[in-house]
Formats: sequence, C-alpha cells, structure tokens
Amino acid sequence: MPVQSFVYNSVPQRVVFGAGSLQHLAREIDALGARRALVLSTPEQRPQAERIADMLGAHAAGVFDRAVMHVPIETAREAREVAQRLGADCAVAIGGGSTTGLGKAIALDSGLPILAIPTTYAGSEMTPIYGITEAGMKKTGKDIKVLPRTVIYDPELSMSLPVGMSVTSGINAIAHAAEGLYATDANPIMDLMAQEGIAALGRALPAIRASAQDAAARSDALYGAWLCGTVLGNVGMALHHKLCHTLGGSFNLPHAETHTIVLPHALAYNAAAAPEAMARIAKALGASNAAQAVFDLARDNGAPVALRDIGMKEADLELACAHALENQYPNPRPLERDAIRALLQNAWEGARP
Ligand SMILES: NC(=O)c1ccc[n+]([C@@H]2O[C@H](COP(=O)([O-])OP(=O)(O)OC[C@H]3O[C@@H](n4cnc5c(N)ncnc54)[C@H](O)[C@@H]3O)[C@@H](O)[C@H]2O)c1
Repeated sequence: MPVQSFVYNSVPQRVVFGAGSLQHLAREIDALGARRALVLSTPEQRPQAERIADMLGAHAAGVFDRAVMHVPIETAREAREVAQRLGADCAVAIGGGSTTGLGKAIALDSGLPILAIPTTYAGSEMTPIYGITEAGMKKTGKDIKVLPRTVIYDPELSMSLPVGMSVTSGINAIAHAAEGLYATDANPIMDLMAQEGIAALGRALPAIRASAQDAAARSDALYGAWLCGTVLGNVGMALHHKLCHTLGGSFNLPHAETHTIVLPHALAYNAAAAPEAMARIAKALGASNAAQAVFDLARDNGAPVALRDIGMKEADLELACAHALENQYPNPRPLERDAIRALLQNAWEGARP
C-alpha cells in the first residue's frame, strides 16, 4: 500500500433508496420544510409527473413538463417564471439528467431546494454541477446550491427505461466511476464507491437486457448509478469526459451513447499511465483488461460501439480532435495530438481496443 495523501469532502444530501420508496415523497417534502412543489419532467414523462402531483395533492404547485436535453436558457427562464408565479418553494425533478438539469437551473437562480427522483443512470442528482445552453454554447459550472437536497431512488420507476437506453445510461455511469479512479483529486472513499458502482452496473446491465422488468437488476443498476454519480460529484473528470463534452456539444451527438462508445478508447489511451485504476475497473467487471471489458459490455448488450453509427461524420474527426486539445482537463497521460486523432478514428470505426 503506497503512502496516502488526499482531501475528502462530504456534502449534505439525503438519499432514500428502495423499490416503492416513492411512497415517502410527502414525508420527504415535509422534511425539506416545503409546502408547494413544482413538479418537473420531460413531455414524455408527463404521466409520471402527474402521478407525483396527485400524490402531493394540495402540496403540488403544478407540473412543468418542458425539460429537454442540455437545458436551453429559454426553458430555464420559463421554468423559473412558472415557479415564481405559482409560489413554488421546492422543485421535484422526476426523470433523467435533462430534468434534474432543469431543476438545477431553477435552483441556481432562486435557491429553491430540489428533490430529485432519477429514472435513468446518468447521476446528475448526486452532483453540484449544472449546465445551461445559451446561443448554442453549453456553459457548465459548480455550485452547491444546485445539489439536490433529497434524492428518492425508486427502481420501480426505472422499469420503463427502454433496454437500449438502460445499457447506454449504465455505461455513462460507469464512465464517471472509471475516470474517478484516476482523477488527480481521487480519494480512497471515492475509489471504493467507484469500484462497487462499476461492479453493480456490470452485473445489472446484462440482466436488464435479459429482462427489463428484473426487479433485482433494476435495483442493482440504480444502486450503481448512485455510487457512480457520487464519484462524478466529488472528483474531477479527465480525457473521456472532455471528449464526450466536445462530441456532444459541437456535433450534437446523443449523450449516453457517446459516453458508451468513447469510454473503452479513453481507457485504452490512459491504460499505461493509470495501471491501478485499470486493475480496479477490470476486477469490478470480472475481466483482465478494463478497456476491452467495457467495450464487450456495450457490444454484448446491444449498445452502439461506433461513432459512425450515431451520426458522426468522418470528415468532422479532425475538428473534434482540435477541440479536444483545447482547454484540457487534467489527465493521467498527456494529450498527444496524433494519439487522440487515432483514438477518435478507432471510436468512429467501432474497433475493439
Ligand atoms: N450535471 C451533471 O452532473 C450531469 C450528469 C450526468 C448527465 N448530465 C446531463 O444530463 C443529460 C442526459 O441525461 P440522461 O442521459 O439521463 O437523459 P435524459 O434525461 O435526456 O432522458 C432521455 C429520455 O429518456 C426519457 N426517460 C428518462 N427516464 C425514463 C424512464 N424511466 N422511462 C421512460 N423514459 C425515460 C426522458 O424523458 C427523455 O425523453 C445531458 O444533458 C447531460 O449533460 C448532467
């Protein structure tokens, strides 16, 4: 064991986990001292949002169902106005990262507490990171005000997440943990969470593929998502997240699929520079090679493995490479232009690392 040196912060946040735990919603709103909750969702998840509003009865201020990917500033402004007009004193976000992100945009402006009810594995509910898109540019920042105060993880609500999205969302979560293991500000608590989170998702995703309604697998996946999201919220991310932000932001590629395709290649790039992290990832997935294990987890469970299959043009790889080298995040291996260009080519082609 090497001599250790680290800084560990803990953040005040309450997690209520378990099948059926949505039943505790009113109790949890009450514990926040809130009386009028504005329920947020995407248009697709409006029925779930209405169910929440019904459960809250007089304590529901209304439903705002216009959450979309990447939180456009116009949507954020509209939601803030609605919250103010209805006299909301808390926001309940039911959905994935897009809906939680909208809650964060409201909280950033107003300080309204958020109660998050995640239905994907993206992990935004565990982080103080927000993103708002203005004039085509996504600005991100960190503010403890936007960290949801309470999170209700009810695996029953994730049963409806289609299998394909479950697999890519789960690998999106694994990406947070994998990069957390080689973060410059890593610490042993986050390492434990990361390894356990990857293992839980590695077990759960094939079982969900076999049966989307497998209650134990849905519980395991959400548990893994919680751990991986916590890692994302606590330590810095590296090359993989930088590449995904670039590809998502400049080429409008879908979030979870992009993470799924890029992760094996980012891990292969960093393998020699972060051997301990790789050993932990591989161990968590019951394999000997971290990058190949993540690639196989995606491919064997029907997820896309090539950027060309999700709308990336080969002609744009050069520009993507140039963007990836700007404003670099700390990374175990220095960013070398030719090697990053090769990484992108491999990810575009879907080559097994
Ligand atoms: N700030 C952070 O820390 C953080 C972390 C992770 C992701 N994000 C952001 O979150 C966004 C992506 O989030 P996401 O991957 O969760 O996708 P999403 O929230 O955009 O959801 C994708 C689609 O799936 C639907 N959906 C969600 N749960 C469902 C369920 N159980 N059943 C049926 N449909 C369901 C949604 O309504 C939506 O139509 C990106 O903008 C990303 O940047 C932010």
